[in-house]
Amino acid sequence: MQRYGLIGRKLGHSFSKEHFTGVFRRAGLKDHRYDLFELGDIEELTSLLRNTPDLCGLNVTIPYKEAVIPYLDGLDPLAAAVGAVNTIAIRDGMTKGYNTDVAGFRSLMHNLDDTLHDAGSAIRPRALVLGTGGASRAVAFVLREMGIRFRIVSRSRERGDLTWDLIDPTILRVCRLIINATPLGMHPDVNSAPSLPYAALTAKHVLVDLVYNPEQTVFLKHGQEHGARTLGGSAMLKAQAEEAWRIWQGPG
Ligand SMILES: NC(=O)c1ccc[n+]([C@@H]2O[C@H](COP(=O)([O-])OP(=O)(O)OC[C@H]3O[C@@H](n4cnc5c(N)ncnc54)[C@H](OP(=O)(O)O)[C@@H]3O)[C@@H](O)[C@H]2O)c1
Repeated sequence: MQRYGLIGRKLGHSFSKEHFTGVFRRAGLKDHRYDLFELGDIEELTSLLRNTPDLCGLNVTIPYKEAVIPYLDGLDPLAAAVGAVNTIAIRDGMTKGYNTDVAGFRSLMHNLDDTLHDAGSAIRPRALVLGTGGASRAVAFVLREMGIRFRIVSRSRERGDLTWDLIDPTILRVCRLIINATPLGMHPDVNSAPSLPYAALTAKHVLVDLVYNPEQTVFLKHGQEHGARTLGGSAMLKAQAEEAWRIWQGPG
């Protein structure tokens, strides 16, 4: 049996089991299975690995993408650069951390490439990245790669460039790409949304939500009401899962 799974604190919202069970079924891999492992504390990873010797790979979700790093035997250079791990490969009892959110967000941004160029010029908009967790780190990595300048919004002055109370219409006029990398709006809390002066949005804005459940979040609905282009997190979810599967099948 080759076992795979997802670790996180609360996994009720996860689509990964369904996704990978489908991948295994379509590939005729009857000896592969994917399970959800809820860990109350990341320290529990050690006993999970000890008690599940046929584990070959894990995905990592909220809130362990950064906390998992000290528990791993090795780190892929990209995951080290991002500072977050969302995929673990386990070979010969050794764990190695990878980051596939970067590939996922890259593919999502690829879909927006034309929109992000100001009409007739090569000037790229500035961005606001909401949240400072593992997903935010992957987003920041890709924005740097693309040469897009951005500010990070946090509840804490220490973690971000801006706190929420500082986001006024002037900032939204300058930052026309807004990326939600917080869990606000995610099932079951579907009526919550980042606190922004939405009335300042225009048809020149692009709102990207990493939340994929629901696909149509309150954040994106606010954008649509003001004519902004919007994109949900499903495409990224699929792309990051495909990259994880490539890693698990690869030579290591
Ligand atoms: N589509 C995809 O493939 C994909 C991939 C990765 C993640 N995601 C989604 O992206 C979101 C973030 O994931 P993550 O792994 O980065 O989670 P995380 O590590 O828990 O980080 C989320 C960040 O959002 C901020 N935040 C948390 N609760 C908040 C609240 N009530 N109000 C305002 N800010 C809050 C926090 O930043 P501060 O403490 O600094 O404020 C926190 O660090 C989740 O919804 C996740 O499902 C989607």
